[in-house]
Amino acid sequence: MTVANTTAPQPIQAETVAPLLGAAAGRIDLHVVAECDSTNLQLQYMAKAGAASGTVLLAERQTAGRGRRGRHWHQGSHSLAFSLLWRLPDDRAPTGLSLAIGLAVAEALHADARLKWPNDILLNDRKIAGILIESAAAQRYIIGIGINLGDTDDLPTELQHTATALDAPTDNNALLAHLLDQLVLILDTFSVQGFAGLQARWQARHAYQDRAVNLLFSEGSTPLQGLCRGVDSQGELLLETPTGMQSISSGEVSLRLQ
Ligand code: BTN
Repeated sequence: MTVANTTAPQPIQAETVAPLLGAAAGRIDLHVVAECDSTNLQLQYMAKAGAASGTVLLAERQTAGRGRRGRHWHQGSHSLAFSLLWRLPDDRAPTGLSLAIGLAVAEALHADARLKWPNDILLNDRKIAGILIESAAAQRYIIGIGINLGDTDDLPTELQHTATALDAPTDNNALLAHLLDQLVLILDTFSVQGFAGLQARWQARHAYQDRAVNLLFSEGSTPLQGLCRGVDSQGELLLETPTGMQSISSGEVSLRLQ
């Protein structure tokens, strides 16, 4: 999907993205801003003010991008950061939603992109994209996606060994359209079948399958050690430990290779 970049990428524009959409055509309402604090936060306000499911807010820069576990999300100058408001059917629990979104992003980004539970996207064991899902009212979710594109020198020093960036495509509009199409397709499957309908595809991209890992429930706590055996139909992590198989449901843990 990515095309090596030799020039500055085209700025994203809603009117350029619209004709490039396939499955997402007519189901996405894209808003682009030059700068905001956090697209997740601003979309939360838009949802409260009545924004419809399918509203997308993309910012060229975020001054207070939010990451998982209360962390700051660093956005490089060519990176993509956007949030999607989506309403799930009343009878569909969000269990496994963040894994489903990770799968959509991985499949859209790169044939070799892999998934680290619950929802980091890796290339060669380094993070290229992250996802933060927050709930808005009544079955509505804010799905925030940040993708590292461009120069790895753009990454802060502390991330240089754990993160990487995809070559920035010459046309970020086409990349965004492709991502939105994939997100809509996966959300449609998730709405009908839940994560169970996507489990095999997630498993096929699992970065840590059968690898020895440490699971930390909080910084400095004694790690739970085991072999990563993939995920079940609810998206829970299966960890084979000396005392037996354990399923881990909380995404608020840190998973590291031993
Ligand atoms: C992570 O820590 O891995 C999650 C990172 C999520 C970052 C994205 S960028 C767009 C959206 N707006 C935010 O403030 N955060 C998410």
